[in-house]
Amino acid sequence: MLIDRHNRIIDYLRLSVTDKCNLRCSYCMPEDMSFLSRAELLTYEEMFRIVSLLVPAGISKLRITGGEPLLRKDIMQLFRSLSGISGLKKIALTTNGTHTLRYLDELMELGVRSINLSIDSLDQERFFAISKRDLFQPVIACLQEMMTRDLDLRLNCVVMKDQNIDDIIPMVELGQDTAIAVRFIEEMPFNGHGGYYEKLEWDHQRILTHITARYPDFQKLPDPPNSTSLNYQVTGFKGTFGIIPAYTRSFCGSCNRIRLTAPGILKTCLYQQSQLSIRDIMRSGVSDEELLQTFQHAISNKALNGFEAEKANPTHISESMSLIGG
Ligand code: 5AD
Ligand code: SF4
Repeated sequence: MLIDRHNRIIDYLRLSVTDKCNLRCSYCMPEDMSFLSRAELLTYEEMFRIVSLLVPAGISKLRITGGEPLLRKDIMQLFRSLSGISGLKKIALTTNGTHTLRYLDELMELGVRSINLSIDSLDQERFFAISKRDLFQPVIACLQEMMTRDLDLRLNCVVMKDQNIDDIIPMVELGQDTAIAVRFIEEMPFNGHGGYYEKLEWDHQRILTHITARYPDFQKLPDPPNSTSLNYQVTGFKGTFGIIPAYTRSFCGSCNRIRLTAPGILKTCLYQQSQLSIRDIMRSGVSDEELLQTFQHAISNKALNGFEAEKANPTHISESMSLIGG
């Protein structure tokens, strides 16, 4: 098993397969973002080797993220190879919905049924203002189609003051007749252009107050183990809504996850500024055993929470989430 020094079992890997994206959401990356070259990214063979090594060691859940993961060339090749790893119970995907429909059937055939769709507005103009690209139509078409499929579908909506507050209630209402999980995420300072703020105006409490002012008849749902969201259901709705205190970080105590960034940097916490390049270690020709030991050693030193991880980082974080893996 992979266990950290706080006795937490680590069984969840978030793997970013590209830093590229066809949207420019302000909370994630600057307009003039420069992207990595192909050679700097982990190859599919390297990813397969890592996952094949970590699954017998205890990783049972994998999430493919980016950037926009489906923009990477021949991406289904990766899903096909990963789906053959026995012991890997769940492969999940986070996507922005712009290219997802064309891959949906094959993803579902391969058992990829947990899909998080990032969508911050249900309004075309606000969508454009946030994402800077005119791709609302394909994303909405994707959402509508996915709502008819047998998927474990979650919507991720980053809540931003002055930008999409008017979307909160319509998003909750998507769950009126559909078993969808809408999650509102506190904005984090990972936007690649500084913009660090001391206080977050729209924190989880304010988001909840806003929703319950409109729907006072709601229930708190039990949170699954390792859940990062506080989950609720409006009475009579089929779907649920959750709030992810990503900035407030009240969920870190039960953290079970590690991340590999697109260029293969291991992050044992989102808020950790790591330089441990798994890619370079692999390319230096290490054995599987040495590679596994590298992971075990880093995991054993995982920070207790995002605040502890941040303390070790003297500069305020402004890495882009597209590089880290959303
Ligand atoms: N704050 C909160 N969430 C973010 N994401 C990306 N950047 C940020 C940020 N700065 C989330 C997106 C998406 C996933 C890829 O990561 O909403 O769901
Ligand atoms: Fe885990 Fe760090 Fe995220 Fe907290 S901030 S849940 S410790 S990765």
